[in-house]
Amino acid sequence: MRLVVLLAGVAIAAWIGLAQTPPEAPAQPIPYSHKHHAGTLKLQCTFCHENKEPGETMGIPAAAKCMGCHKSVKTDSPHIQKLADFNEKNRPVPWKRVYQIPSYVFFSHKAHLQAGGNCTECHGAVAEREVLRKEVPTNMGACMECHQKKKAPNDCTFCHEQRN
Ligand code: HEC
Ligand code: HEC
Ligand code: HEC
Ligand code: HEC
Ligand code: HEC
Repeated sequence: MRLVVLLAGVAIAAWIGLAQTPPEAPAQPIPYSHKHHAGTLKLQCTFCHENKEPGETMGIPAAAKCMGCHKSVKTDSPHIQKLADFNEKNRPVPWKRVYQIPSYVFFSHKAHLQAGGNCTECHGAVAEREVLRKEVPTNMGACMECHQKKKAPNDCTFCHEQRN
């Protein structure tokens, strides 16, 4: 019985993987450009995406981070005024997530960066993108493919909690 459930799970996951077409870029509340900030201005990824302990996430920067520059740069722009407003009210900018995996999957940025992973491998050429869309799949098949290639484990419980 357990094996049947297991195989059904794998089949469903594979089917979902196949059915996935690359999603469009979500409409963001402020037209933030990685191409401009990380490309032209050459800001480091980790200037905005700090891998804070325990290291699972990279996080999205608060508006305060942006205001370091934008309290004086482009203050006449309605987009920057909107940004300033979020900052003054101490409210998070409601960015739409681009890469997000379900909470029942273990994932740690720190572990992958320590194992030699880099941002481009999993998120594409971000510094060349005006807007971000999920251009690299993060479905189960994609995880397992790299694990196989890099000889990392692919047991179910490596990425999922032990059930029953
Ligand atoms: C091995 C693949 C992999 C690598 C390498 C990787 N990421 Fe990610 N990234 C992911 C996955 C998967 C998610 C979704 C995580 C989730 O929803 O829990 C994600 C989510 C994010 C997020 C959203 C916020 C968060 O932490 O959930 C940001 C920002 C991000 N990554 C930036 C980066 C940057 C910057 C680098 C390089 C320093 C990087 N990533 C390297 C796979 C990767
Ligand atoms: C190191 C300084 C710096 C930081 C930090 C910074 N920006 Fe910028 N940003 C700039 C510069 C410079 C421009 C280009 C201004 C111009 O076109 O003259 C710009 C342009 C913009 C524009 C286009 C404004 C318009 O209407 O033309 C937006 C939107 C923007 N930034 C949002 C953000 C957000 C959101 C953050 C934080 C996540 C951020 N910026 C962080 C320097 C910065
Ligand atoms: C000035 C701050 C800033 C810098 C520098 C920056 N980012 Fe971002 N990043 C953001 C903001 C704001 C968002 C949310 C808006 C969006 O998705 O475009 C974001 C979103 C992302 C996401 C999507 C997260 C998700 O799941 O929604 C990834 C992946 C990412 N950044 C990777 C990178 C990489 C790789 C670099 C370096 C090449 C980088 N970022 C440099 C501010 C920054
Ligand atoms: C670019 C290749 C690559 C991709 C893509 C990738 N991984 Fe990994 N992953 C690795 C490597 C290499 C290790 C290190 C294995 C080790 O330490 O033995 C690892 C380790 C892990 C670990 C153990 C982390 C720890 O705390 O020690 C987990 C859990 C994991 N990956 C889950 C995932 C998930 C979930 C995805 C897809 C969203 C994913 N990985 C995508 C290469 C990758
Ligand atoms: C390397 C990491 C990794 C391994 C190993 C792994 N999974 Fe997954 N699994 C994922 C990720 C990531 C997702 C979420 C895919 C998505 O984005 O919807 C997932 C989703 C699933 C789902 C849910 C599909 C759905 O949407 O309903 C099932 C069931 C599943 N996995 C079963 C298994 C089984 C059984 C094994 C062992 C043969 C296994 N997984 C091994 C990463 C992994």
